[in-house]
Amino acid sequence: MAESRVAIYPGTFDPITNGHVDIICRAARLFDRLIVAIAVNTSKQPVFSVAERQDLVRREIESVGGGISGRIDVELVDGLLIDYAKSAGAGFIVRGLRAVSDFDYEFQLASMNAKMAPDIETVCLMASDRHQFIASSLVKEIARLNGDVTPFVSPLISGSLVKKLAKRG
Ligand code: COA
Repeated sequence: MAESRVAIYPGTFDPITNGHVDIICRAARLFDRLIVAIAVNTSKQPVFSVAERQDLVRREIESVGGGISGRIDVELVDGLLIDYAKSAGAGFIVRGLRAVSDFDYEFQLASMNAKMAPDIETVCLMASDRHQFIASSLVKEIARLNGDVTPFVSPLISGSLVKKLAKRG
């Protein structure tokens, strides 16, 4: 039997957007198992706690349907991504590329990871055209300013954002 192809899709997911969901669905079709890995230690200061981000990502994936959720796990990654990938038996790291501006950072990330773990391949998927411009920080800014974020995130995420930001005042 062929070896199963396991991939990791890492990120901060603060919060998960329609753009992330698109990448997850497409990556899930390419690999036998996909691990969506939520970074615990990030230089960003997330609005949602790591447990909240994990819960929201899980619920988003469940709501997509189409039988993909059975092949996707949502885990936390604390420490080096490549160490996590090795311990999870993953041979691939998936990243989404939205615009040329993403390229430098993604190239650097992929190159550093490749230097540390040559056996782990980074696979970049181009964001679909309707999701090219989405970024979690802009979604949060729009929500903070009482704008409509429903073109960029699901009703679950937009409702959670409104509640979260109201609590924070
Ligand atoms: N659709 C919508 N938005 C997307 C997107 C897509 N397809 N792809 C990326 N983005 C956005 C995110 O919303 C995020 O927006 P924001 O900056 O406004 O919040 C931004 O692009 C990039 O975020 P993300 O893809 O979540 O990556 P990140 O830069 O937050 O995460 C890690 C980087 C977690 C992968 C990286 O820091 C890491 O590997 N950490 C583990 C520690 C480690 O190994 N470090 C050494 C690395 S060499």
